[in-house]
Amino acid sequence: MNRRLLASFSAILSLVLVAHAAVAAQAVQAGLPNVTILATGGTIAGTGATSTTTVGYAVATVAVQALIDAVPALKVVANVHGEQVFQIASENMTCGHWLKLAGRVNELLARDDVDGIVITHGTDTLEETAYFLNLVIKSDKPVVLIGAMRPSTAISADGPMNLFNAVSLAGSHEAVGRGVLVCMNDQINGARDVTKTDTSNLDTFRSRELGFLGFMQAGKPTFYRSTTRRHTTQTEFDVHEVKELPKVGVVYGYADYGRIAIDAFVSAGVKGIVHAGVGNGSISNEARQALIEARAKGIVVVRASRVGGGAVARNGEANDDALDFVVADNLNPQKARILLALALTKTTDTREIQRMFYQY
Ligand code: SIN
Repeated sequence: MNRRLLASFSAILSLVLVAHAAVAAQAVQAGLPNVTILATGGTIAGTGATSTTTVGYAVATVAVQALIDAVPALKVVANVHGEQVFQIASENMTCGHWLKLAGRVNELLARDDVDGIVITHGTDTLEETAYFLNLVIKSDKPVVLIGAMRPSTAISADGPMNLFNAVSLAGSHEAVGRGVLVCMNDQINGARDVTKTDTSNLDTFRSRELGFLGFMQAGKPTFYRSTTRRHTTQTEFDVHEVKELPKVGVVYGYADYGRIAIDAFVSAGVKGIVHAGVGNGSISNEARQALIEARAKGIVVVRASRVGGGAVARNGEANDDALDFVVADNLNPQKARILLALALTKTTDTREIQRMFYQY
């Protein structure tokens, strides 16, 4: 064979091999659900200097395809497709990221060839993204958020098993219509109630006194209960056209905290303030005066609690009717902020906003 012929033959052979690889990569297995993994960064995509580095590692460094390739068993439970939406530490998550993410999730779930979504996320603000999506996703199909407490390079990294469980859950019939779920450490929690409770422990995501909804065992979900609160297709929130969420600040109560933070938020032009009060949402006299003045300027005030459990009673530690304040029910302050921002996209009527806090 002369040289030119040999060159054309090897060029054709490479083309055939590339085409074959592309077909193989796209091969979908009939009968398996199609699950898209949207990766946003966090510790699950983190890398440490050594296998024992579990603090001081770099977050958001591993690309989505590498996360998928690390768990070959995913192929057994679903046809998986990955998309790198962001690559950030979750403390840098903004309302802008949420709007973009919600848009992509809604777009994907509207397609017949997508059965469920998994979102990999840093654990620090995971509960906030989960609750936001729980209020704005317009589909019954499963959306499952996961992260990891140990970076991908650590001994006993929790990311791979969390990813396997999440993909299995997102492809399951059992997860349909249950709202956005958080699945870590084999436990399935609802987006509304779950919160991060420990800085380092793997068993950090809990719904506190309300408990988890179910658990994963051998890649199969078992549910014991469902949320009674409106979510996804049942909500009145549509962020399709929303370019920016109204600004809402959270003020944290403590002994001798005064009114500095409240006045700063007012000067910054917030539309709402969530007051994370002590006990049953109590407000100091000085802060109360600042909040009364804020309310007189049209800013909506929501009384939440820093305690971490229990509901703030309306007209309990403050006369909410007289002050025209709203109570957060048992939503933690960071989630009350999300609901208030979404509520403010619809109305500034505090009676309506109070209704929303009792329904979502
Ligand atoms: C983050 O939230 O991005 C870092 C911490 C974590 O994912 O656990």
